[in-house]
Amino acid sequence: RTVHLSDYQPFTHLVTRVALTFRLAPRATEVAATLHFAPNPARPGRHDLRLDGENLTLKSLTLNGKPLDIIPDATGLTIPASLLPDAPFILETLVEISPETNTALEGLYMSRGMYCTQCEAEGFRKITFYPDRPDVMARFRVRVESDLPVLLSNGNPAGQGAAWAEWDDPWPKPAYLFALVAGDLKAHSALFTTASGSPVQLNIWVRPGDENRCAYAMDSLIRSMTWDERVYGREYDLSVFNIVAVDDFNMGAMENKGLNIFNSKFVLASPETATDDDFGRIEAIIAHEYFHNWTGNRITCRDWFQLCLKEGLTVFRDQQFSGDMRSHAVKRIEDVLLLRARQFREDGGPLAHPVRPDSFVEINNFYTATVYEKGAELIGMLKRLVGDDSYAKALDLYFTRHDGEAATIEDWLRVFEDTTGRDLAQFKRWYTEAGTPRVSVTEAWDGKTYALTLRQENPPTPGQPDKLPKVIPVALGLLNPNGDEILPTTVLELTEPEQTFTFSAATRPIPSLLRGFSAPVILERQASPEERAFMLAHDTDPFNKWEAGRALAKDVLARMIVDGASPGPDWLDALARVTLDDTLDPAFRALALRLPAEDDMAATLHAAGITPDPARIHAERRGMGDALARHLAPQLPALIAALAEPGPFTPDARAAGRRALRLACLSLLSRTDGGAAARAAHVRADNMTEDAGTLVCLLDIGEGAAEVQRFAARWGDDRNVMDKWFALQIAFAAPDRVAGVAGALTRHPAFDWKNPNRFRAVLGALSAHHAGFHHASGSGYRILADWLLRLDPLNPQTAARMSTAYETWPRYNADRSSLVQAELARMAAAPGLSRDLAEMVDRMRSAG
Ligand code: ARG
Ligand code: ZN
Repeated sequence: RTVHLSDYQPFTHLVTRVALTFRLAPRATEVAATLHFAPNPARPGRHDLRLDGENLTLKSLTLNGKPLDIIPDATGLTIPASLLPDAPFILETLVEISPETNTALEGLYMSRGMYCTQCEAEGFRKITFYPDRPDVMARFRVRVESDLPVLLSNGNPAGQGAAWAEWDDPWPKPAYLFALVAGDLKAHSALFTTASGSPVQLNIWVRPGDENRCAYAMDSLIRSMTWDERVYGREYDLSVFNIVAVDDFNMGAMENKGLNIFNSKFVLASPETATDDDFGRIEAIIAHEYFHNWTGNRITCRDWFQLCLKEGLTVFRDQQFSGDMRSHAVKRIEDVLLLRARQFREDGGPLAHPVRPDSFVEINNFYTATVYEKGAELIGMLKRLVGDDSYAKALDLYFTRHDGEAATIEDWLRVFEDTTGRDLAQFKRWYTEAGTPRVSVTEAWDGKTYALTLRQENPPTPGQPDKLPKVIPVALGLLNPNGDEILPTTVLELTEPEQTFTFSAATRPIPSLLRGFSAPVILERQASPEERAFMLAHDTDPFNKWEAGRALAKDVLARMIVDGASPGPDWLDALARVTLDDTLDPAFRALALRLPAEDDMAATLHAAGITPDPARIHAERRGMGDALARHLAPQLPALIAALAEPGPFTPDARAAGRRALRLACLSLLSRTDGGAAARAAHVRADNMTEDAGTLVCLLDIGEGAAEVQRFAARWGDDRNVMDKWFALQIAFAAPDRVAGVAGALTRHPAFDWKNPNRFRAVLGALSAHHAGFHHASGSGYRILADWLLRLDPLNPQTAARMSTAYETWPRYNADRSSLVQAELARMAAAPGLSRDLAEMVDRMRSAG
């Protein structure tokens, strides 16, 4: 049951109108649909009409008013061509569904008494019979009947009365953008006026009692709307924009037309309950979903292979927005950390796939870091290659040319070709070929000329043994040994397997390569610790300044792991200078202090031909932190005191950066003062950043048991905060204790494993604990598999997504590999395994 891109055909029919009536009841909701069809001129001839439908009880079916006696199969129903007029016709269906027992959280389901929907990618077929594909776009009118006080759907309000409401969406849309919400909800509202003067009512709907946690999301929404008008010339296009917060949600949020539905943890925030990272994520996700109104909704995808068309572009846009709101340098570093941690890891293992995949079994398995984050990198590369002005012109052309359409990557690339005259055939390989290119560097200087030779290698990935060279934009700057920039940032275009670029230079320059991380590649260039320390001190490109410190730290840690070396003064002194440099942004300094992640070290060692030992990586990384803590100890108390924020909490980037650096310093200090300073700060904390941040300092040194108890006593009623409580205890447990802590937490009465956030808090934290998950006993692997098998029958999407924890097994030694293989085999053999989890397990069983 594999679907292939090459099999695409337009749908046999057009849908010109949709009218839906929902009579809501927990176990017996009736959905009446009136669908106006017409033959599709793009598919000449007479065709059967195939409608998708799953878990629907069909109660009646009429064609132009006459009953039809057709029995659905497991995935839909077919009306033979012989029964269909060769002209427009109306099909009416009545089905019954059971939202209350829908544990998959796809289609129409219930979350603590409220009805809500999730239709992307293929959930609408669980609501009614319909051609559930994104290139079938229609106008929807929806009537909701229920006693619940708030009844919402897409578009503009079109009337309401006692126990009913109607909604009309003037913009044709695919079914995946349909949404419905009904519940006892309260609104936090505001009014927005678009650039051209249209008023828009903005509402954030939450459970009673949560209204006072919506201000930041509303502020983020208003800033997003203004930003999209200013930067992309895109205005909102309805009279209302509704956002609803839901506690049970498989993903982050969903851009349904005029009715965005959010995982509550990405909406609700107050200083007492949300950390600075939470505020940052809320801002980014509110923006992301809002930006989809143009990149996703007005212009949607022809088929699900084109998912990156909307996701890559929308992630790129939300990254630009967050950079404008905060700091571009810090945002870029954070984005690259995430890209490497999730996408490079995916691209280097058995689950590697192109940004535009060409086949899938279950599309939900392709909402990945590759489609989203690497997809966004491709937009950034395009922008760099064509320049900002051409990018703006190409985007204008994209919006005018494809508004109202379901488009493809070919359409997207063509607007760039048409605006710039540039041939993007080679660039397109970035969309069709998986794997992270490796770029190696050699240099020569003869006293006059500096020659930089770049070589690219495109490693094989599953199903793609051979690859062609890509066009790689390498942003380069050159420094001289005094630290002056002698060549400002210049973009080299590497298009061949190997290319040499020359520059005249009277002194031997030091290259600053891949500035701003100009391409999602692995740059292989050996450099001395002195040179890295020099670049950390002098590089004018903030990303590469950070990158130099990171490379230095990774070299140090690698030597500790491989040769038992101890951290030398190069790194300690260089990092101390950055930490204490008040001219640098505190957020940047906090990022510089973050040690390389254990999973990242494992990947790096594996790439260098060394089998990573998770226990050893963990121990040496701790030793590295201890050495840094001792080195900085004399300066830390003063720095911590200087970073204290006077006055009430504000979530802005400046204050958040100071808190991040302060907490990083407190964490180091805890290693030498037994947690005294952190404990005192914990007692005084009046915001969640410091409340949780100081608790982490204590847990990290094996302390904090009493604080953990008090935290639960204080926050036991708050789901989003308690998710942190569950996750932190695992994340900061010593490797030998991880299985025990995770096991105990799964027996905790508040471990509601059917709630995806809570499941992820515990099992996600276990998977993310490198030394705990990869513990030699196999306990980490086993606990996760036990829980995935338990979750899968109820919620296959979340089970499948979390199974990616196993994707790195080929890096490890034979003992660990076979332990993972045994768990994968155990899951594969489980009777009734979902298509979602089966596809993932199957792909991971081969080494990639
Ligand atoms: N389009 C949504 C977003 O990018 C993601 C929804 C995906 N949901 C799913 N079940 N596959 O924000
Ligand atoms: Zn998205």
